[in-house]
Amino acid sequence: MKNHTAIVLAAGKGTRMKSDMPKVLHEVAGEPMILHVIRLLKVLGMGRILVVVGHGSAEVRARLAGYDITFVEQTEQLGTGHAVLSAMKALKGCKGDVLILSGDVPLLSAPTVKGLFKIFNKEGPARALAFISAFIEDPTGYGRVIRDDNGAILRIAEQKDANTAEKAVKEINTGCYLADARFLAKNIEKIGSSNAQAEYYLPDLIPLALKAGSKVSALTLADPEEVMGINNRVELAAAGALMRKRILTALMRSGVTIIDPLRTVISADVKIGRDTIIHPSVSISGSTIGRGCTIEQGAIITASKIGDGTTVRPYSIIESGTIGKSASIGPFARLRPEVKLSDEVRIGNFVEIKKSTLGKGTKAGHLSYLGDSHIGAGVNIGAGTITCNYDGVNKYLTRIDEGVFIGSDSQLIAPVRVGKGAYVGSGTTVTRDVPPGALVTSRGSEKVIKGWVKKKFGK
Ligand code: UD1
Ligand code: CA
Repeated sequence: MKNHTAIVLAAGKGTRMKSDMPKVLHEVAGEPMILHVIRLLKVLGMGRILVVVGHGSAEVRARLAGYDITFVEQTEQLGTGHAVLSAMKALKGCKGDVLILSGDVPLLSAPTVKGLFKIFNKEGPARALAFISAFIEDPTGYGRVIRDDNGAILRIAEQKDANTAEKAVKEINTGCYLADARFLAKNIEKIGSSNAQAEYYLPDLIPLALKAGSKVSALTLADPEEVMGINNRVELAAAGALMRKRILTALMRSGVTIIDPLRTVISADVKIGRDTIIHPSVSISGSTIGRGCTIEQGAIITASKIGDGTTVRPYSIIESGTIGKSASIGPFARLRPEVKLSDEVRIGNFVEIKKSTLGKGTKAGHLSYLGDSHIGAGVNIGAGTITCNYDGVNKYLTRIDEGVFIGSDSQLIAPVRVGKGAYVGSGTTVTRDVPPGALVTSRGSEKVIKGWVKKKFGK
């Protein structure tokens, strides 16, 4: 596929989305729909990828930065034929064939595109154009494939141009084409705009190819799921459901248990090891989860790495964290960015951690805030412990060395260090460094006044 070039059409406004955001950036299974198309082209090993942008061009370019794409500007959106015309300059020198896809058809699969190449090559040396069609129960909105009495393809009738008989046709154009580069260069300018929408329709290449004496063939799909085009938010949700099903099916086949696939959202870039169990209402994106983990109900995990055998308990949030093996997080824990937890760490309910490292086996079981801290192995953080890392201007580091015991309801005023094996008594405000092995307390002495209530209130 190295010789071939792909053009992805993504300049349209997507009026039917009723959105301020360009259509192709709306997300399907956690990623912009166009990114699914780009990933497909990468999997296929396309030599070059041209993306035609126009509406919301800057946003689309920014979101697709780093994917080795050549962007082509279509300043006025005059139709799909005009969009391809805008890409012709960038296409110069293309030795292979030109695959044309829409940025709003995100479910297309690699085997299907390979099938399109196959039927195209069967057309022989005079080949000009092939496309993918599909039979759809409700073809409303799509271009219909018009064939003659012998079944030979004649043209595409767009929804707005089709007569009643044409509207009854259930074979639709999916908007995926493969064209010979020279044929395209010679004919793209010949497309006219005398139609119901006064637009330059790319499917008008079909009659032009026939006129030039070439055959046009279609790869007709029995299962139209993967070629659904997204034009509104109802279709967006339907495509999301199909994409999720595809991702989850692959995970289940690879040995991951997904208890309720209808209530699980995992994006295509997630890797999960075998024997991991995913409970309902879990969301995971951009992450790698190890083997034998349990991710319980309502957990949200983004851009993180989780080691083998770790449990993430219900309703915990993990944001770009690194967690070791056999750890336990939550329920109701919040790990903000730059958190590194070693093996066997235990984090309990209502614990918030930010920019901190915790050593092996360290425990913070209840109601704590640990920020900008460096905590060693085997440390016990009592309930309600708070690292006071911020003085209103700057952030400071708290160091808690190996084997330290922090009693409940303590505050550590950073910068401060608690030395190896030291004890911090409950309710202490630690303001100075504590030497290793020491005990520090700052509680006032306790007073008990007998009979005080009766004396005060007379009862
Ligand atoms: C198009 C096809 C239709 C097919 C359907 C499949 C045409 C005229 N019709 O219709 O036969 O059944 O796709 O999904 O091609 N775009 C541009 N510049 C433009 C116009 C569109 O880049 O000036 C891009 C859009 O961003 C979109 C793609 O081309 O990604 C398709 O455009 P859209 O308006 O959605 O075409 P459909 O009406 O769906
Ligand atoms: Ca469309």
